[in-house]
Amino acid sequence: MKPVGIVGTGSYVPEKVLTNADMEKMVDTSDEWIRTRTGIRERHIADEKTATSDLALKAAEIALKEANLKGEDVELIIVATITPDMFFPSTACVVQNKIGADGHAAFDVSAACSGFVYGLAVASQFLSSGMFNNALVIGAETLSKFTDWEDRNTCVLLADGAGAVVLKRVTTGEGLLSFSLGADGSLGHLLHMPGGGSRNPASYETVNEKMHYIKMRGNELFKMAVRILVEAALEALKKANKSTEDVSLFIPHQANIRIIDATAKRLGISEDRVHANIDRFGNTSAASIPIALDEAKRMNKLQKGDIVVLDAFGGGLTWGACVLEW
Ligand code: ACO
Repeated sequence: MKPVGIVGTGSYVPEKVLTNADMEKMVDTSDEWIRTRTGIRERHIADEKTATSDLALKAAEIALKEANLKGEDVELIIVATITPDMFFPSTACVVQNKIGADGHAAFDVSAACSGFVYGLAVASQFLSSGMFNNALVIGAETLSKFTDWEDRNTCVLLADGAGAVVLKRVTTGEGLLSFSLGADGSLGHLLHMPGGGSRNPASYETVNEKMHYIKMRGNELFKMAVRILVEAALEALKKANKSTEDVSLFIPHQANIRIIDATAKRLGISEDRVHANIDRFGNTSAASIPIALDEAKRMNKLQKGDIVVLDAFGGGLTWGACVLEW
């Protein structure tokens, strides 16, 4: 298997910012509650006309430019999302057409907040095997479109954005070193959107019963999140023959600062080696890790040879960790 690495990154969030003060006017909450319980201060929200592919496209264009790759030369596009433009065609096909990669492979991956890590794992197999020479992997969401803005349990957390990476084969010893992926379908009810699929097709009843919004049992998820993230990171590190001491930067899914801090603490990774941006972006599901990765790179937090751990968990339940050498 040939080694595969990241040769370009990009991210994009909508201009509109909703602060905690704005949230106070919408639901019974407070800036103090949101900050201390989640770490979030503000989040970016797409306008009415903007769909997931619009955010994905902007992030992709930046990543492609950085990788010096023309849209028409992209051989594989994977979009990780649970908020696609529509059921079908896939958001990846919409992006493929917009960047001019017509004729090349494109599909979506659905693994909620773990979707980007799943997408990376899938794309890297295609490149390692030699089937494709490059891939564009995007995590993009417009969670705001599926949020019940009257439900304080979810609306203060969820947000919109996109992050993208370009993958190519690299020199031996660099790039994506290992993955740990998993799922527990018996816990799907903890985070789901019950309406609109074949189980509960859209009807007046499903709309009236608010079945087209994201439902979350946050407290129950919270209790499992740290254990799941720790186990996934340790398994991926073991597969890469690395220890937590080798980790230069830990980039976890941005769901809650208390989950991030507790996970890093349990792994023995000091605060200066953790990249957190949940204060400014909230929870953008599959977009959170690629946005954080792109931001860390632009802040010069990544140097050649650094060992980086990406670590996610989310609806499904799903989880996924990736160890890479920058
Ligand atoms: N403002 C004020 N009070 C609130 C708010 C709010 N926005 N939301 C909930 N509360 C209240 C609750 O109603 C509850 O009140 P009660 O005791 O009178 O019933 C109280 O605050 C405590 O609620 P908890 O749920 O116990 O609060 P907790 O400390 O667990 O924080 C949170 C809630 C932030 C949701 C946390 O549990 C969490 O982050 N969970 C994990 C979420 C997650 O990681 N999801 C998976 C990834 S997301 C994805 O895949 C899209």
